[in-house]
Amino acid sequence: MQKYGVNELRRMFLEFFESKGHLAMKSFSLVPHNDKSLLLINSGMAPLKPYFTGQEIPPCKRVTTCQKCIRTGDIENVGKTARHGTFFEMLGNFSFGDYFKKESIAWTWEFLTEVVGLDPDRLYPSVYLEDDEAWEIWNKDIGIPAERIFRFGKEDNFWEHGSGPCGPCSEVYYDRGEAYGCGKPDCTVGCDCDRYMEIWNNVFTQFDNDGNNNYTELEQKNIDTGMGLERLACIVQDVDSMFDVDTIKELREHVSRLADAEYGKEYDTDVSIRVITDHIRSVTFMISDGIMPSNEGRGYVLRRLLRRACRHGRLLAIQGKFLTKL
Ligand code: ALA
Repeated sequence: MQKYGVNELRRMFLEFFESKGHLAMKSFSLVPHNDKSLLLINSGMAPLKPYFTGQEIPPCKRVTTCQKCIRTGDIENVGKTARHGTFFEMLGNFSFGDYFKKESIAWTWEFLTEVVGLDPDRLYPSVYLEDDEAWEIWNKDIGIPAERIFRFGKEDNFWEHGSGPCGPCSEVYYDRGEAYGCGKPDCTVGCDCDRYMEIWNNVFTQFDNDGNNNYTELEQKNIDTGMGLERLACIVQDVDSMFDVDTIKELREHVSRLADAEYGKEYDTDVSIRVITDHIRSVTFMISDGIMPSNEGRGYVLRRLLRRACRHGRLLAIQGKFLTKL
């Protein structure tokens, strides 16, 4: 497999979906517009909600983006594990009442296996427990044997975040091989370890949640997909974590230089290097989108990230102001 860089993968994705009639739009701001249910944009679909509900007319019924996202729910784990981060880029293709499951699943497969060149034998789809339609598409159209298609419940295969458009989803997992596994005899797709990595989520957006878990069927059927760019890069570059992919590694190495510390030698040092590497990405994009540190709301998220990054700088014995250098 060719080891494409982050910037190449982003371009390949957007060009692929442009070739399928999608309008490539720029990433939206991290600050949600007219959406009180979110502090910060956390997925490709979030800024597009009015197009899913039919409230607003999209510039094109097929859109593709690479959206900057922030998720801080797991902030305490950032740095401690290889896979947690607060900032990431989400690749997505969207249909607003245009194509649905059949096309979306076929393009997911085509992009992963033919454009990126992932080994089809390492890919495993999952579908929502009751979604026979998606199961049939994977099985009959794509040709995935029944025993390789997993059915999961609402917790794993029903996507919603805050109020608004949501629906059952189908995910694609990539088997990174035994070396990444936990070694337990029952380790398989859905296991918490790093072996089966969830890379792409296809959401079949057909409901609207009013925020109190009252679901109404949307007039139009939509597609919302999301693939973590950094995760895809991990797989393509066959590296352990997002901190080892080409672009982020450069930032990580710069932190190491400022700290005069070697990465990969000592756990606590690595944690601090990873925290700073992650947080500086969030902080930079938040500030560039006009967020200022404050005592509440998204300004408080920024302040907390800044403080954590500074503190880890002190733990690494970096002197003086250093975040601006990153
Ligand atoms: N909105 C879906 C997600 O974030 C695609 O996983």
